[in-house]
Amino acid sequence: MGVQEKEVGIVKQSEQKKRIWAGNKRIHKKETDSTNADAFRMAEALPHGAVITADSQLAGRGRRGRTWVSKAGENLYFSLLLKPDFEPDQASMLTLVMALAVARGIEAIYACKPQIKWPNDIVVNGRKVCGILTEMQAVVGAVKHVIIGVGVNVDQTEFSGEGLEFAGSLFQETGKTSDHEILLAEILYQFEQLYERFCEEGSLGFMLHDYESRLANLGKEVQVLDPKGVYRGTALGMNDKGELLVRKQDETTEAVYAGEVSVRGLFGYV
Ligand code: BTN
Repeated sequence: MGVQEKEVGIVKQSEQKKRIWAGNKRIHKKETDSTNADAFRMAEALPHGAVITADSQLAGRGRRGRTWVSKAGENLYFSLLLKPDFEPDQASMLTLVMALAVARGIEAIYACKPQIKWPNDIVVNGRKVCGILTEMQAVVGAVKHVIIGVGVNVDQTEFSGEGLEFAGSLFQETGKTSDHEILLAEILYQFEQLYERFCEEGSLGFMLHDYESRLANLGKEVQVLDPKGVYRGTALGMNDKGELLVRKQDETTEAVYAGEVSVRGLFGYV
């Protein structure tokens, strides 16, 4: 198949876990620069819930301008296009909704309990097995498109390079492998359930319990890289806007917004 060649279809459906809209339009590329970039390019023409997948990405995008190394065939790379009818602030919470969907999806297939490093890294045995990059296009205060890109390290066995000290794959951490299509279908199913609830309620309160039960930072010492000044504290949990609550050394509590700061563990990755 040529680089640009693509298959169009639907993400696998099962009778037990039927989805209404997520993945009903699906484009698969053998190779691409980035499925997030593809989603942006095709956003006007594609419906809400369209999914773009690729076997490999030549310029996979990570958070904070980093590169997401995307080897061929070993992992799951996909972007979900959403056309929600809400404000940019609300749309930015969707990245947390996807984090929980991925954690639940992995749990359903691998029978392990993935944790979440706030806001949206999925962690198994202290290793990052999935990263999520949410990008948005807005016009005068209204959201046009939200693209949630997900990279799950499924079968990769070697990670080398800067920033990959704490990377791992599901295979390495559980000893099991899975069909990428089934994993994708499960994650989309979980996402659709959570998204519908999020649209009804407009905040993350309904999923706080599950999210916090997986929060790898909970009760841990963290360093908050705030552009106004770096500080340390203890992560107490998350509020219904998706902000991390950090108790500072002066005993005051700060609500930390993921769009502005990043949080590092003081003793290892979380
Ligand atoms: C992170 O840095 O943790 C986020 C990584 C997100 C990677 C995924 S892979 C599929 C999608 N396409 C991209 O270019 N990036 C995301």
